[in-house]
Amino acid sequence: MKTRWYKDAVVYQIYPRSFFDANGDGIGDLPGILEKADYLKTLGVDAVWLSPCYKSPNDDNGYDISDYRDIMDEFGTMADFDKMLDAFHSRGIRVLMDLVVNHTSDEHAWFKESRKSRDNPYRDYYIWRDGTGPDKKRPPNGWRACFGGSAWEYDETTGQFYLHLFSKKQPDLNWDNQKVRQEVADICNFWLQKGVDGFRCDVITYISKPADLYHANQRDVVVGPNWKTYMRELSERSLGRYDTLIVGEAAGIDFPRACEITKEGEDLLDMLFHFEHVEVGTVCAKNQKSTDLRKWKGILARWQALPETSWGAVYYENHDRPRSLPRFAPAGPLRVPAAKSLAASLLFQKGTAFLYQGEELGMTNCVFRRADYRDIQSRNLLRDVRRYAGPLGAYIAERHLRRYARDHARTPMQWDDTANAGFTTGTPWMKVNENYREINARQELDDPDSVFRFYKDALAVRRRYIDLVRDGTFSLVDAANREVFAFVRTLGEKRLLVVCSLSPKPAGCAVPADLCKGKATLLLQNTEMPAAPRETLRLAPCACAVWYIEAE
Ligand code: GLC
Ligand code: CA
Repeated sequence: MKTRWYKDAVVYQIYPRSFFDANGDGIGDLPGILEKADYLKTLGVDAVWLSPCYKSPNDDNGYDISDYRDIMDEFGTMADFDKMLDAFHSRGIRVLMDLVVNHTSDEHAWFKESRKSRDNPYRDYYIWRDGTGPDKKRPPNGWRACFGGSAWEYDETTGQFYLHLFSKKQPDLNWDNQKVRQEVADICNFWLQKGVDGFRCDVITYISKPADLYHANQRDVVVGPNWKTYMRELSERSLGRYDTLIVGEAAGIDFPRACEITKEGEDLLDMLFHFEHVEVGTVCAKNQKSTDLRKWKGILARWQALPETSWGAVYYENHDRPRSLPRFAPAGPLRVPAAKSLAASLLFQKGTAFLYQGEELGMTNCVFRRADYRDIQSRNLLRDVRRYAGPLGAYIAERHLRRYARDHARTPMQWDDTANAGFTTGTPWMKVNENYREINARQELDDPDSVFRFYKDALAVRRRYIDLVRDGTFSLVDAANREVFAFVRTLGEKRLLVVCSLSPKPAGCAVPADLCKGKATLLLQNTEMPAAPRETLRLAPCACAVWYIEAE
């Protein structure tokens, strides 16, 4: 059933709330996405992944689902969804949904039932335990929730605690209950029958919990005891029956286990997102370049070396991380060349490439005041530090958020230079980055030297050399270089040499002699570059180039 089309694909992640608002209520929506389908076609992506658009009370912007078979009111209706799906399919663009099934919303019908009584038929859909201590009011274990506080919430009605690895409005499902597993398979089939092409599986590595929760270590929620059994079963009942792309968000995964769970033929995951590169170094301190490039490319190179039997996903940005550009380039004249250099370094790696909305414009982090933060993680942090650590705590928290807040990626998409960046005619649900007059799609579509045009060209080149990009081996060039990310992809006699400086100063790159011998064609560059590589390449600040080299 699986053609593994995804090996050639570039996937574009849409955060619906911040993409485009078609009805002027300040919130992005499905008709808005449909209106921009041609924009994505112009860019040249093969698929889109929509962050959740299901019915949700929005405690975590849709990652808390109250009905898996319906659309969030603010985003539109199921009819809007169907129209949007058709619009993408008719343009040859596939559509992936976000599958959030480690937890539901506490407003999901299952949880409303579950919390009613200890013998409710839905009780066992979630993870309930007696408390500890003399009055049984202490949580069963010391696990922490991702958004602050204990991972257990006491529920007065039945006098037990339920587990929530994220907010207390996101109770964890009990995957050990076979009814839960069947419900999940049914939900997947519902969407696959509609024609969606796969899923990005939210925190999927956490679904199988250790048996004895009173004594378990929180680390052990990652690929827990029955994880493989449950994923294989889900594949048999649903995911593996269609020509899907299944990508797992794999927080906490290590390399050996990643190879294991993405192995072709195992029917677990087609690929996964690890976080090693996005977690290394700081993000942006006062707009200074702050990521150690040697570490960054070292990590990426290690993940490029997956065994032949596994497949990888490559990405720099998503909705949970600040923008990638400020890690390498300060605001100012180098923003454009640096964005292009990053683009080339991403798109020619081996693996399915994922772009996040606005990355193709070179969007940057935003300057927020305390009241601008919208994300539950940011808001909880500000609330908790004020409560427990006073003004100094609040100061430290704000400094932390300036670098790491998820809000940075979630500011509205910058479409043009009219009010609110053309995202909405109403009042945007969150702050629009003030730099939209300079950075926006309308301007970039018209400008042959824009970041957008570079992405478009790079995607076209990638498609033209897809055999090499898909199947070529990867090796770093001048691995010790702290300023330049360079690598070569090799397939038989054919090679792609990709050289990307991320330095604000002129830099050099040592190219192995054999790469300078063959017949070279310059495919892509962001500044004047020689027609063929040389053994000592001199590079202007943030210069990049891609050469195709064929042995003579
Ligand atoms: C994933 C999502 C994130 C969400 C969390 C809980 O990490 O990417 O946005 O908050 O899961 O669902
Ligand atoms: Ca709207």
